[in-house]
Amino acid sequence: MKIIIFDGGPRKGWNTARMCESFAAGAAEAGAEVETVRLYDLDFKGCRSCFACKVKGGASYGRCAQRDGASGLLERAAQADGLVFASPVYLWTVTPQLHALIERLIFPLVSYAKEEPALASKRIETAMIYTMNVKEPQFHETYINGGKGPLGAFESFVGRVFAKPERVCAFDTYQFTDYAKYDADKWDEAEKKKWRDEEFPKELLAAREAGRRMAEKIKAKG
Ligand SMILES: Cc1cc2nc3c(=O)[nH]c(=O)nc-3n(C[C@H](O)[C@H](O)[C@H](O)COP(=O)(O)O)c2cc1C
Repeated sequence: MKIIIFDGGPRKGWNTARMCESFAAGAAEAGAEVETVRLYDLDFKGCRSCFACKVKGGASYGRCAQRDGASGLLERAAQADGLVFASPVYLWTVTPQLHALIERLIFPLVSYAKEEPALASKRIETAMIYTMNVKEPQFHETYINGGKGPLGAFESFVGRVFAKPERVCAFDTYQFTDYAKYDADKWDEAEKKKWRDEEFPKELLAAREAGRRMAEKIKAKG
């Protein structure tokens, strides 16, 4: 039982990385083998529109033909039982690294044929982890927006080729080591600290439970 977590955040040890660690811990507790991949440590680009993945009878049909730092990873992902896409929200959506990976993973599996063949080898379980400055209501209204927001659209692509993603979030995150040093008085540091100390631990726990749930679901499928 293999789960791959794609950590699409650039900062080691910060909010997104910690949510990934919690998810991984929960999944491992329930018996999964977990691999966490830090996308910012890899050298790769997004889709280059070569369309080798759509050539009729082509050697790369349904698979990405680009060769770079993501190639081996894409092959491992296609074999996994669970995939987790984690990102801090950047400008309402996922980071460019995660977006690039998703293009390479999902686009070859999205068919342009009228009768869409099921190109993914199996219904891989999926989850999204997001961390962000905004609070929950704004996240839903703007980024998800009933599937029309940028993250809503992103999730529907994931759900089209794999299982519908479960979502785990950390809201109102603590962003700096010392707010006083930065030009950021839009945020009240005391409130941010309170949230970090009281709510973030609960969000980490929710990530752990989601990891456990994913592993249990995979086990139940046999
Ligand atoms: C380039 C950039 C863009 C951001 N855009 C948003 C945004 O659109 N909405 C939001 O709520 N937070 C935004 N943030 C804040 C981060 O999403 C948030 O602080 C996140 O938890 C950081 O994750 P990390 O601690 O793992 O780095 C942005 C941060 C950066 C650096």
